[in-house]
Amino acid sequence: MDHGTTITQFIAQEQRQIPGATGDFTALLNDIITACKMISNQVNHGALVGALGSADSENVQGETQKKLDILSNEMFIQSTEWSGHVAGLASEEMDDIYMIPEEYPRGKYLLTFDPLDGSSNIDVNVSVGTIFSVLRRDEAGDATEGDFLQPGTKQVAAGYALYGPSSMMVLTTGRGVNGFTLDQNIGEFILTHPDMKIPADTAEFAINASNGRFWEAPVKRYVDECLAGTEGPRGKDFNMRWIASMVAEVHRILTRGGVFMYPMDSKMAAKGLGGKLRLLYEANPMSFIVEQAGGMSITGKQRIMEMDPGSLHQRVPVILGSRNEIERLQSYHSEG
Ligand code: AHG
Ligand code: MN
Ligand code: MN
Repeated sequence: MDHGTTITQFIAQEQRQIPGATGDFTALLNDIITACKMISNQVNHGALVGALGSADSENVQGETQKKLDILSNEMFIQSTEWSGHVAGLASEEMDDIYMIPEEYPRGKYLLTFDPLDGSSNIDVNVSVGTIFSVLRRDEAGDATEGDFLQPGTKQVAAGYALYGPSSMMVLTTGRGVNGFTLDQNIGEFILTHPDMKIPADTAEFAINASNGRFWEAPVKRYVDECLAGTEGPRGKDFNMRWIASMVAEVHRILTRGGVFMYPMDSKMAAKGLGGKLRLLYEANPMSFIVEQAGGMSITGKQRIMEMDPGSLHQRVPVILGSRNEIERLQSYHSEG
């Protein structure tokens, strides 16, 4: 009986085609997969294991942490710090980079992650996820914060786990995007969505419309034109979605196309924020995946993956999805 390809087999086969690959990278991805399986298990058991609710603490960005934000962060660290493949970790939920404890060897990779994305959804049992990105570091020894400030084009791999009706892992190592579904009985992610591609056209967009009065003109114009439907300049009706879990929105777009926007707005500008989503933990990994699936990801005018990060927790505007719509949004932004 054919049980399909496990994610471990898939990555090992992919790495065999790369001359000089040592197996370190395959081993690191395996540790990340283990972390996501552990988080999936906790999320799945929810209230049964007392995992829901707030943790009475705030992260560096002033957001209230959920118990599961902290638990997921710890699971990610525990699964990856010991192996000798990473020189340091950086997470949305930690103020500074995480130094690998003395007793473990240092490796040539850096890992950034958002341990639980969409955590405002956790208590209401709506999909959440984990996002991660792998960067390379060529020197020996401990990583510094500066080592993490690489543009997204330098990513070696990126992926997300989605904890929804089924748990999935979606991954790119720069050779397209592949999706795997967790078989809970055998505890393995199995290849179910090979070579995922985002359709170039769509009639669906996602944005938090409650921020509408703060948006910049190009985004207002785009949304107004979509809402005008068949009677407007687009000549067709659009549908709207907002889950408030970026992982779930990107997964929908990878599956059937669409546009996701968390654009710049005057409310964030007044607070001195560059956007809502974080460049290193959310925007860059998702941009890598979206581009590898044939889509586009921009701040408005600029390609996100070409940005030079200025700090670990930097925030950026994000506009991503189906190519023809993102090109349109980019042209609205460059018209001013
Ligand atoms: P996180 O839970 O990691 O802080 O991220 C939430 C993000 C993203 O996933 C989602 O698209 C957006 O914030 C939702 O923001 P609003 O609550 O402003 O809609
Ligand atoms: Mn997030
Ligand atoms: Mn998060």
